[in-house]
Amino acid sequence: MSIRLSNGKEIPIEMHKIRIVQKARLAPARDRLRAIEEAGYNTFLLRTRDIFLDMLTDSGTNAMTDVQQGAMMVADDAYAGSESFYKLADSVEDIFGYKYLLPCHQGRAAEHLLAKTFIKPGQVIPMNYHFTTTKAHFELAGGTVLELYGAEALNTSSTCQFKGNMDLDRLKAEIEKAGAENVAFVRMEATTNLIGGQPFSMQNLRGIKAMIEPMGIFLVVDGSLISENAYFIRQREAGYENTSIRDIIREMMSIADLCYLSGRKSCSVRGGFIATNRKDLHDAIRPWLPVYEGFFTYGGMSSKEIEAMAVGVREMTEVEVAGSSADMVKYFVEKLIDIGLPAVTPPGGLACHLDAMKFIPQIPQLQYPAGALAAAVYITSGIRGMERGTVSMDRDREGNDVPSDIELLRLAVPRRTYTMSHIEYAADRLKWLHEHRDLVGGLEFIEEPPVLRFFAGRMKALENWGQRLADAFEKDFGPGC
Ligand code: F0G
Repeated sequence: MSIRLSNGKEIPIEMHKIRIVQKARLAPARDRLRAIEEAGYNTFLLRTRDIFLDMLTDSGTNAMTDVQQGAMMVADDAYAGSESFYKLADSVEDIFGYKYLLPCHQGRAAEHLLAKTFIKPGQVIPMNYHFTTTKAHFELAGGTVLELYGAEALNTSSTCQFKGNMDLDRLKAEIEKAGAENVAFVRMEATTNLIGGQPFSMQNLRGIKAMIEPMGIFLVVDGSLISENAYFIRQREAGYENTSIRDIIREMMSIADLCYLSGRKSCSVRGGFIATNRKDLHDAIRPWLPVYEGFFTYGGMSSKEIEAMAVGVREMTEVEVAGSSADMVKYFVEKLIDIGLPAVTPPGGLACHLDAMKFIPQIPQLQYPAGALAAAVYITSGIRGMERGTVSMDRDREGNDVPSDIELLRLAVPRRTYTMSHIEYAADRLKWLHEHRDLVGGLEFIEEPPVLRFFAGRMKALENWGQRLADAFEKDFGPGC
């Protein structure tokens, strides 16, 4: 939520009290340099003891409520028929309007089950944009991902309010080209992660459904960031200003045929599920659930997390929860734009994104600008962000690097975890880094796994630029900072 101050300025306001805290440690620049070198210039390989603000992701790192924590204490640990499952099923039916629920241990497990069940080799899967794990699973099943985003989606300085929309003309053309029988399903990702947490509109979702339903193609929504997308629809789409988040989610779900999600984001737990009202879709997936995840009533999740999720699914529909990260992101982005930094606009959900090719234009794309920027930000601030660029793209079948459409550094704002002073600190150190951007160089791989290389790959800084940057920082701020 935001609140207007007496001087007219809007600031995010925390609609919660912090009663349990975790200590943070800010290691000096010299130690941060050592840590990132040991991590092969890959922020995934850092240890949290070396991190001040962990903005790698909002996945599984959100603050839970006292109600969620309390619910965990009454978990019903049973292999089969757990009451905790039925509480979650009730919540999902209440909020999503779906009566069939298949729990799974996290979002990618849902993607695996969908790929296994519905994608045949040679089929295509149109979507607004891919997510890394989605693409990996869909391609492993022999499918081809088609990204049918609109003209503004990849413009990092845009005023387009719904960059997550699918281009309906492109969708029509691709279905005609492939033949409807070769389209496994259409996937729309809420608050489209990799283009900067950008929403789709209700109108767009409706348009897609109207086109594909007569062709017998079903519509899947990746709802990992569903409450944020609903929050943006409320703020940005005409006619929804006074509609509750709950009703917006309900309406989205009444258009979609099936929703799957990672519960680690909007729901503020660790888990996932697939939900639908389509018995045929449910029945097709169901036999695989105990093979890959666990029995039907836990699907690989702990009963404690299921209890917390039953609460989280409801809590995420409160406007101050749905907007808790988005409003902080907006403040962060506007602050960076004010000081002239290339933050992605409009501000999205989940994170503040920086356009690395604008921040450090001297780095060629095959020297991984977003990866270099992630390492540079860590060295100068102790803040861990995530590369969302070419490092996050695996090589093609011939072994060539696949340049990403955009090179983003994502600084995630986990829900209700950081405060305004953390954002002020981040903006200040980013400003310093921008003033010293000439010191930043490129990266090259020294160890590279064949799939999802961004998780475990190791790189080195070309011409030892990390040292140069740490030296300059220490000169300005002193050895203890
Ligand atoms: N779909 C979306 C849109 C996601 O953002 C994620 C995860 C997944 C699926 C996979 O879910 O991690 O529970 O298996 N996003 C995390 C992130 C990892 O950092 O953005 P998962």
